[in-house]
Amino acid sequence: MPVVIGIDFGTCFSSVYFIHGGQYVPLVPNGEKPMIPTVFFHDSIKGSLAGKPALRAGKNCPSALAEYVKRHYRESSIKLKNKKNEVFTFSPEDIVRHIVNYLIEGARGCLQSQYQLDNPELSAVLTVPVTYGEEWKKMLLSALKDAGVTVHAVIQEPVAAAVCFLEEHAAAGGTVLVYDLGGGTTDVTLLQKTGSDQQPYAVLAQGGDVIGGNDWDDRLLTLLERQIVTQLSGLSDAETDRFLETNRRRLTALAREIKEILSEESVYDMPCEMQGNLYDIRVTRQEFESCTASLLGRTMQTVRNVVQGQSPFREVILVGGGSHMPQVKTRIQQEFPDCQIRIANPEFAVAMGAARYAAISAPVPVLLQSAHSYGIILEQGQTRSIRNLIFKNASLPASGRYECRLSGQFLQFAVQEGDDTDQTLVPLQHGGYALSATVWFSRPPEPGTVCIAELELTSSGLLKLTVLDQNGNEISGTSVSLS
Ligand SMILES: Nc1ncnc2c1ncn2[C@@H]1O[C@H](COP(=O)(O)OP(=O)(O)OP(=O)(O)O)[C@@H](O)[C@H]1O
Ligand SMILES: [Mg+2]
Repeated sequence: MPVVIGIDFGTCFSSVYFIHGGQYVPLVPNGEKPMIPTVFFHDSIKGSLAGKPALRAGKNCPSALAEYVKRHYRESSIKLKNKKNEVFTFSPEDIVRHIVNYLIEGARGCLQSQYQLDNPELSAVLTVPVTYGEEWKKMLLSALKDAGVTVHAVIQEPVAAAVCFLEEHAAAGGTVLVYDLGGGTTDVTLLQKTGSDQQPYAVLAQGGDVIGGNDWDDRLLTLLERQIVTQLSGLSDAETDRFLETNRRRLTALAREIKEILSEESVYDMPCEMQGNLYDIRVTRQEFESCTASLLGRTMQTVRNVVQGQSPFREVILVGGGSHMPQVKTRIQQEFPDCQIRIANPEFAVAMGAARYAAISAPVPVLLQSAHSYGIILEQGQTRSIRNLIFKNASLPASGRYECRLSGQFLQFAVQEGDDTDQTLVPLQHGGYALSATVWFSRPPEPGTVCIAELELTSSGLLKLTVLDQNGNEISGTSVSLS
């Protein structure tokens, strides 16, 4: 029997959980806490590091530390510089692979030392933000495969958090709205406990946005820089810019620290030392809230889109580190005056819920929804056609078929991902290619033979492509590869 684990790969922190004797157990690398920093460090002496060791090494040399890779996963490369100004270039895939390996090796070490499980087979439920698509999923799936983990389901982060909460608290038939304000993304879902043994939960609606705590930090950074500029005397504009540029990393970290302090205190008032001088910094919670009000407003728009047209619910669960900000609870309470608002396991609800999902005996515990639309792009010689096959918000499993006539020994498809829900033809410029698929026929088929490409987003959230003949049977002797 494989050990089933839940994984939350977060912008700032990652966690791995499993359930043992009915209890949630964090699986953490030696010396780590359950919130494992999602960071990577590299230099020629220490080599590549992840987690706390990377953070520690980065204190000495911040330019060799890569943070927030989940936000930058679409960049072609990430450059790190050591103290001697040597540059090391990594792809986001390399960094994700290294961090995932660190998490999994840590989980294995923990299973061995605490449960005497020697190198067990690992099966995982992976969580992803609502707005992230196949490209991100593929990066994590490939890293987990390399670390020897089989992924049996991919669910959206707030869905996992909702499962965690509903398993603990709600009576059958309960519905909760989950608002997850993380470091990089806002994720919202409305999840219902159905009362059915076969499929205990159903996603009623979901949505997301690519804003998170980092954006709150950026607003505060601007405010801090303004305060510092007024205290710099005798510098030209260019010198001022250089000063701010040199100290930006430090000020960004300070902004995050001040933001977190302002969740507890009503004012931050302390000098900050930079390049041998002290600068006064004073920010009230009110100032902070007003300079970030539009961000909070944007997350509320996501919430409104999710609940629009849905039946009333009684509970709102706030998760993600950003939910510690008092402004979040206040704003949500204003929006839903009749609801009980709870902050529940904000840091761990996602990983815990994924572990719980994995442990529920129902074949598919949650009726999931597709977060995107998927179209297939068929290229045959000079001809290129596009058709939307799976629509955003469709309940899973969702599938669509595309019929074509063969003219050679192989077919090449590109699967496109987008957010159009009302078009059958997706213009190419919407979204990127999610996957490319190649189908080889062991024997050249008769030119003009009809073949059907069936694209499916399975009930476990995994994308699958099958090639069928005109009677709907799988064509023997074909090999399909998705990459
Ligand atoms: N007390 C606090 N007050 C305000 N913000 C906080 C507090 N504690 C943590 N945060 C913020 O929460 C964010 C991290 O939250 P979390 O660990 O949920 O994110 P993540 O899961 O890594 O990111 P994501 O889910 O977006 O990928 C950071 O921006 C952090 O500054
Ligand atoms: Mg998160």
